[in-house]
Amino acid sequence: MQVMDANDGVVQRLRAAGCVFAEQEAALLLAAAAEDPQAATLEEMVAERVSGTPLEYILGWAEFLNLRITVSPGVFVPRQRTRYLAELALHRVKAQARNVSEAAQLSQSGPARDVVVLEMCCGTGAVATVLAAAVPSARVYAADIDPAAVECAQRNLGARGQVYCGDLFAPLPQELRGRVDVLVANAPYVPTEQIALMPPEARLYEARTALDGGPDGVTVQERVAFQAVQWLAPQGRLLMETSRDQAPLTAELMERAGLRVKVKSSKKFYATVLTGTLG
Ligand SMILES: C[S@@+](CC[C@H](N)C(=O)[O-])C[C@H]1O[C@@H](n2cnc3c(N)ncnc32)[C@H](O)[C@@H]1O
Repeated sequence: MQVMDANDGVVQRLRAAGCVFAEQEAALLLAAAAEDPQAATLEEMVAERVSGTPLEYILGWAEFLNLRITVSPGVFVPRQRTRYLAELALHRVKAQARNVSEAAQLSQSGPARDVVVLEMCCGTGAVATVLAAAVPSARVYAADIDPAAVECAQRNLGARGQVYCGDLFAPLPQELRGRVDVLVANAPYVPTEQIALMPPEARLYEARTALDGGPDGVTVQERVAFQAVQWLAPQGRLLMETSRDQAPLTAELMERAGLRVKVKSSKKFYATVLTGTLG
């Protein structure tokens, strides 16, 4: 006789509901139910998941480069492909921190200045949080138009960074103009007509402003690039995630904005990132 435990039952229900990673999801839901008895019961969480709610909204967090990132309902769930953007940005922030420290030693002008990092269109602030955790000496800022995202990102960054709410660069302190060394952006880039083709977890649960990139998907990217040039430091860098198909359009608009552009792709992460250097 085969004995079924609670876990088997959950796995079967999740699998029947179409969850591809039913085993892993069941383990996470069981752990969440055991971790916090004040929160929803296992039965409530499984029912929510079966009805289609994204796992991260039920758990309240997503794993991103070994960090547990708080995710509030409606706020864009950080995608695993965005690890590529975070890793490239991290490489750049570390290199820049070394540069400023060497320059300060050579000129004997006192302590090195802080490296300034900005995550524009930050959502949960997952990328900014990775950067702040890895390079504590960096001054980290983030911004988003969605107050729920801003609240979530500030929770993730805590005292390690400051998050602003508003349209692109508008809410940022003026003293950051011309001072940003590394500007990282995963702005919405889904062409409006393609939103209807997205999986229900995105289409029905994530805010439309987090997805909609306008008719050809690059409307927000274009605004980011054209404003970025006023906020980047000399030799500062904009790193922008895009799709493989849109990469030529994104590259063209970044060049028009006055940046020297390189296209970087990763088969491992199935991701494309454009870097644009000022000057
Ligand atoms: C695709 S999500 C990416 C979130 C986050 N960067 C990430 O990778 O997980 C895009 C984000 O851009 C924000 N956004 C859209 N239009 C904006 C605007 N005009 N100004 C600031 N943020 C904006 C949305 O609220 C959303 O959080």
